[in-house]
Amino acid sequence: MSKRYYLTTPIYYVNDIPHIGTSYTTVAADILARFHRMRGEEVLFATGTDENAPKVAQAATARGLEPLPFVDGMAERFQQAWAQLNVEYDVFIRTTEPRHARAVQAFFATLQERGDIYQGPYEGWYCMSCETFFTEEEAPEQNGERRCPNEPLHAPLKLVRETNYFFALSRYGDRLREHIEAHPEFLQPEFRRNEVLQFIQQGLRDVCITRGAAGWGVSAPGDPSQVVYVWFDALINYLTLVGYPDDAEMLAKWWPADLHLVGKDIYVRFHCTLWPAMLMAAGLPLPKQVLGHGFWMSEGRKMSKTIGNIIEPLRLAEWLAELSGARGEIAVDAVRYFLFREMPFGEDGNFARQSLLQRFNSDLANDLGNALNRSLSLALQNFGGVVPPPTDAETRLRDLGRETHVRLTGLLERVDFQGALAAAWEYVAAINKYLDDRAPWALAKQGKTEELGGVLYHALEAVRLVSLWVYPYMPRAAAEIQRQLGLETRLGEEPWTWQDEPAWGYLEPGAKLEAPSPIFPRIERKTMQEALKNIDQPAAAPSPDASPAAATPAFPPAPAAAVGADPGPADAEDTTITIDDFAKVELRVAEVLSAERVPKADKLLHLRVSLGDEERTVLAGMAEYYEPEALVGRKVIMVANLAPRKMRGLLSQGMLLAAEAGGVVSLLQPDQDLPAGARIR
Ligand code: MSP
Repeated sequence: MSKRYYLTTPIYYVNDIPHIGTSYTTVAADILARFHRMRGEEVLFATGTDENAPKVAQAATARGLEPLPFVDGMAERFQQAWAQLNVEYDVFIRTTEPRHARAVQAFFATLQERGDIYQGPYEGWYCMSCETFFTEEEAPEQNGERRCPNEPLHAPLKLVRETNYFFALSRYGDRLREHIEAHPEFLQPEFRRNEVLQFIQQGLRDVCITRGAAGWGVSAPGDPSQVVYVWFDALINYLTLVGYPDDAEMLAKWWPADLHLVGKDIYVRFHCTLWPAMLMAAGLPLPKQVLGHGFWMSEGRKMSKTIGNIIEPLRLAEWLAELSGARGEIAVDAVRYFLFREMPFGEDGNFARQSLLQRFNSDLANDLGNALNRSLSLALQNFGGVVPPPTDAETRLRDLGRETHVRLTGLLERVDFQGALAAAWEYVAAINKYLDDRAPWALAKQGKTEELGGVLYHALEAVRLVSLWVYPYMPRAAAEIQRQLGLETRLGEEPWTWQDEPAWGYLEPGAKLEAPSPIFPRIERKTMQEALKNIDQPAAAPSPDASPAAATPAFPPAPAAAVGADPGPADAEDTTITIDDFAKVELRVAEVLSAERVPKADKLLHLRVSLGDEERTVLAGMAEYYEPEALVGRKVIMVANLAPRKMRGLLSQGMLLAAEAGGVVSLLQPDQDLPAGARIR
């Protein structure tokens, strides 16, 4: 019997469409679900919509609609958004479904029978945006009104005074604390567990779980004058999903849940206090883990409709696709990648568009894209587009790959999304370094075909391994990598699997490879600058705990000489220069990343080159002497501090050195394989 894994996202309020914040929890769950499926586990990934909230009814009224047609439309929008974000959940729940009303009423009745629900007078201050009651101490009066302690911009709190039903939460403080202390894995991350313990320590008060105004929502069993409090209702969705109260077999199969993923705002009070106490009261086991993640901020503040600083992931992906030319679904994957690479899961970070573009270019176009493109192009040129034969001599990437795989597995098991990606990218860097070191282009020139085949096989197999690791984050991009590696047909036969030790040697020598085509086309520097004008201005200062990458500028500062005036012509009389004169010229090894002809310019090639820590565009008058493809992957010598010049609407940021004699033009290149960026002295 395979292992089971039941994980949930919160169910989303449908008064608003999904944004980066709400998408974050859902994509996190999708990543984990894919990872567990790859490991052969039977996964139940559940998500849904929280539709019984008063604010949902209010949003419907504001649009002149009855709540039901409004929530129908919104639930559909959520489902569409998740599909467009490449999210594959197994089950979707809507709290307006009759099965859920049955579950809520049965749960309520059970607690009544067990003596944990009682009737009494209630007085409290209600924030409709948070759907939460606050005490007078929590929300002290200021200027004649009380404001929400979470977000003062929410509408003023309303006093509610009525006879309601209460859940005896205060009885569960000690048992909760004992459970939390006995199960260190239950509440994660650790610093949030401490917040929960502190909250319990202050003393828990009984919770009012119904509202007297009959209306939108599930009515209390046997008392149609009362509507169940939306949080009491919503939390029960995790049980409805697995058959409660009717299907005991299904419930036994899936409950307790392995993981509830939630944001920090609904962690302490609701998922780590109220919910486990409700389960204890009902005599049901507690979920194995509740994990609270941090917040994506926008313009330095929590993203919210009230503030008007919402970022929609799909709009963002469209923007990225437009700037880069990437396919829409690939741009979506890039946004997914960014969300989990940029910010540690437990912490907060400020969303900055420039960091997204920067990571797209550096991590995806450059690092991953290059590893694939270079290996494929060379196999195409030298082995007629088929997988070359491996040799036993090449073991570096295989060994490192196995080590990385084990490390990465551990990181994903601990839900360290960022750590796992960092480990994968260390390996991608190792692939690129391996190619630099083994210089397959030189082996090709020297006619060392067997060795060349071994190196390329090794690199291709390493890229295949990376495609498996990135699949949970970027399913479509990973599939495209495998397609280019010629694995499309084999994919159908053999699903994506995550073994304890990865198979090495999966690619079959002689199997056809596809022509490389950039999955993440690089965004031109100028396009990026244009696109970023007027956005991500200082208003979007990084929050104190934003990841360091968010704070780095998008563009490395231009070298001092490049922005200075032209040095001017040399002295006509005396052509000798001093060593200091020569030292002014910054000569560096540059690696050609891409090359293409400039339309309507016979002589010019448009090159993108890497100087190790930065990329440049260079327009070189080489089109008559070199085919563009022949230059990709080569290391050449470049004047790196020449003042930039605009030609044919493109900005050339350097000059390549070439020797010329008798009509033969030959680019200079180092006779040893040196890293891009190495200085020439
Ligand atoms: N309906 C309740 C959950 C009930 S679960 C039984 C709810 N819904 S919500 O739509 O407001 O938020 C759902 C999730 O989105 C929460 O996990 C919340 O933390 C997350 N996020 C909302 N804004 C966020 C950010 N700006 N950043 C990260 N996650 C955030 O609460």
